Amino acid sequence: MADELHLPPAGAADLDIDVMLAGGGDRSIALGGLAAQPADALLGLIALHRVDPRPDKIDLGVGVFRDDLERTPVMRAVKAAERRIWETQATKSYLGAEGDAVYTDLLAQIVLGGQAQGPRLAGVQTPGGTGALRLGAELLARAHPDAQVWVGTPTWPNHAPIFGEAGLSVRSHRYYDPASAGVDFAAMLDDLRSARAGDVLLLHGCCHNPTGASLAPDQWATIADLCETRGLIPFIDLAYQGLGDGLDADAAAARMMVDRLPTVLLAYSCDKNFGLYRERVGALWVQAANGAVAELVRANMLALARSLWSMPPDHGAAIVRTILEDEALRADWAAELATMRARINGLRHALAATHPRLAAIADQRGMFAMLPLSPAAVTRLRDDHGIYMAGNGRINIAGLRAATVPVLAHALRPYLDGAAQ
Ligand SMILES: Cc1ncc(COP(=O)(O)O)c(C=O)c1O
Repeated sequence: MADELHLPPAGAADLDIDVMLAGGGDRSIALGGLAAQPADALLGLIALHRVDPRPDKIDLGVGVFRDDLERTPVMRAVKAAERRIWETQATKSYLGAEGDAVYTDLLAQIVLGGQAQGPRLAGVQTPGGTGALRLGAELLARAHPDAQVWVGTPTWPNHAPIFGEAGLSVRSHRYYDPASAGVDFAAMLDDLRSARAGDVLLLHGCCHNPTGASLAPDQWATIADLCETRGLIPFIDLAYQGLGDGLDADAAAARMMVDRLPTVLLAYSCDKNFGLYRERVGALWVQAANGAVAELVRANMLALARSLWSMPPDHGAAIVRTILEDEALRADWAAELATMRARINGLRHALAATHPRLAAIADQRGMFAMLPLSPAAVTRLRDDHGIYMAGNGRINIAGLRAATVPVLAHALRPYLDGAAQ
């Protein structure tokens, strides 16, 4: 079948160390041939915001959850779990390349519910969602080096580099329609007509970054049909479970794809829904066509992980495991996550009500939305009002507070009414 993973046995791709060393003879070349790299735009924005002396400045550029006091707090259950780990952890000796298997199994139940087990599923702990995406990309590059990876426009800016650095070619399909602030599904399907059997379709499982625009359930079903009939491999990026409509609702599309398709990759991040950002907590699950292929997948994932990061950092995953193992901590985490979700969705409704051109923001989900602004307008909002957002008009909804929604609405009005550009 075109959509199966054809992998070499783990360890088959031994590197020829002598050949590598032989190339290092000319020391004068050193590293000066490296290409200059563009500065990270969001980091630049953070720096500009930091030195802005205006007390009423508003930071909508940041990519992390903020509470109503503009803090990114450590969640209560996380603090409690850390205390417990500090008291009880007896060793920091190495784990294996797969990380903490209890963490991965407990998390699989949150992510995949009833489909969390079975011989066709291989899962490993990864350093964040980024690590999961990169590990999946490297696995795909081994199995299908000619596969093209299809990503929607726009998408999280790190998607294309992650797949590109793994040696895969990245193609884009239309996704977001600025006119409706929703998904241009007809255009997406039209572009995907050029996809070949064995190609990979990257899909945001929920809470699309940067647009907030999701596929409707019937559109997900059409995508599943497309993958089935055309032999495409879905690679689901689930980085915000619980921050949209709820833990189960946000995983529904991923579960449906896993249910319907023989081969599915799922990259997961706990960095937002557990507020663990810098701890780098994630996982990669691969569903394979049968148990034997799943074993091959697991062996290759471990071999790749060993050369990428040897083993994932433990502390964040130990926190998640401790929370999920304990009923009271798990309930408290889910309750705090529900509060975070309610805050985001409340702000969405408040902002959507301020202007007809923002109405769709209420129907979108997750931390991000794209305001219909030109790059010049984004700069003027920063200069004139101290309102900071990404150059493409992406805002972090959680960067708002009830009190700053009208301030933003007032500053946006001339641009939304067409009186300013
Ligand atoms: C869509 C998407 N996928 C993956 C990630 C990576 O998350 P992590 O910080 O866990 O690497 C992010 C982070 O912003 C994201 O927005």
